[in-house]
Amino acid sequence: MKVERDLHMSRGDGDTSYASNSRLQEKSILKTRPVLHKAVAAALAASSTSLSSSAGGAMIVADLGCSSGPNTLLFVSEVLGAVADRREALAKVHDGQQQQPPPPPPVQPHVQFFLNDLPGNDFNLVFQSLEMFKKLAVKEKGEAVPPYYIAGLPGSFYSRLFPDRCVHLFHSSYCLMWRSKVPEELARGTVSNEGNMYIWEATPLSVVKLYQKQFQEDFSLFLKLRHKELVSNGQMVLAFLGRKNEDVLRGEVSYMWGLLAQALQSLVKEGQVEKEKLDSFNLPFYAPSVDEVRDVIKQSEVFDINHIELFESNWDPHDDLDDSDFMLDSVQSGVNVAQSIRAVIEPLIVCHFGEHILDDLFEMYAQNVAVHLQKVKTKYPVIVLSLKARRTPKYQANDSFYSVFTDSQFM
Ligand SMILES: C[S@@+](CC[C@H](N)C(=O)[O-])C[C@H]1O[C@@H](n2cnc3c(N)ncnc32)[C@H](O)[C@@H]1O
Repeated sequence: MKVERDLHMSRGDGDTSYASNSRLQEKSILKTRPVLHKAVAAALAASSTSLSSSAGGAMIVADLGCSSGPNTLLFVSEVLGAVADRREALAKVHDGQQQQPPPPPPVQPHVQFFLNDLPGNDFNLVFQSLEMFKKLAVKEKGEAVPPYYIAGLPGSFYSRLFPDRCVHLFHSSYCLMWRSKVPEELARGTVSNEGNMYIWEATPLSVVKLYQKQFQEDFSLFLKLRHKELVSNGQMVLAFLGRKNEDVLRGEVSYMWGLLAQALQSLVKEGQVEKEKLDSFNLPFYAPSVDEVRDVIKQSEVFDINHIELFESNWDPHDDLDDSDFMLDSVQSGVNVAQSIRAVIEPLIVCHFGEHILDDLFEMYAQNVAVHLQKVKTKYPVIVLSLKARRTPKYQANDSFYSVFTDSQFM
């Protein structure tokens, strides 16, 4: 499996597509709204002071792992709404000022969005929905909508995506649990996680350590890359699946993948899947605890944490009783969970096992989930982070990105 080539959500807008099955992720965007709105206000302040001449004075905003479907444009809409609210608040302050002559009114900022995802993402669906989005935005908010521009940006967020110091706000929702690759020893088969696709109860400690190392390397690289691309005081809002249980073998997300692995084991017994195929299927995925996340941020030394929290969201995207342990209908919930996970993992399953197992696999998965939910109403832990880029000197002597002349050229 090559993540950059093979990972993408189910394309199009049909019944099993991500666009039609992303309510779980939508709920997360709505839940992080207040954090995002604060970050937009801070990013606006950073954009009014930064000398981003290449951006022509616009606020540059990038959504990393935008996927396709309603959530992509929900994020755009949230940012535009937050910019409009901020401008209105500033205008009120301005109107109330008694100075003679009065200071100039706040300028209407332009917003440039970059929608990023891996090259296999259904960017066409995103682009096709833009016209309708523009019409709706104007209808709902009228002249309050700031001028904005949208561009697609294919590429991995584990690589450079922008020139130095030009972005004011990065956002990423439900993406950073995806690793840049399956840990090498596991991918090569030097170590094995027999019968599983992710860490679960019987996973050897050596495999757990490989996943943890991959997370630390990936997240640390992500922070360094984004820091180079952000202006001073640039903002970053991240939400991704994490782990509440301290026991790494029994993380909440481990059950989600473990029950899918059980369904694959049933297909092995039925002769529909070869055992070797299952043993060689490992996810490029890791759901960290809040402490693991905090440790990497601390070690990176380039971001300050504005806000960090963990909230829980029901496995069943249609069950909005997040604060309750009451289970409405575990069979229906099993089907709902299977649908939402299928929209995410189907392309990787097809790539490794073929299309023929899909319907049987997700039917069995729905049953496994229903049985599990009868015992315990399980929730996804979602880690939400708001970070601020620390100021750095404009030219760092030990950083080749900033250093135009070598020492010898000055002698
Ligand atoms: C579950 S979707 C979330 C999509 C959207 N942000 C939302 O909230 O609905 C995760 C997205 O992350 C993308 N992704 C995963 N790894 C990535 C990487 N290294 N670079 C860019 N995008 C990545 C996937 O392709 C997928 O579209």
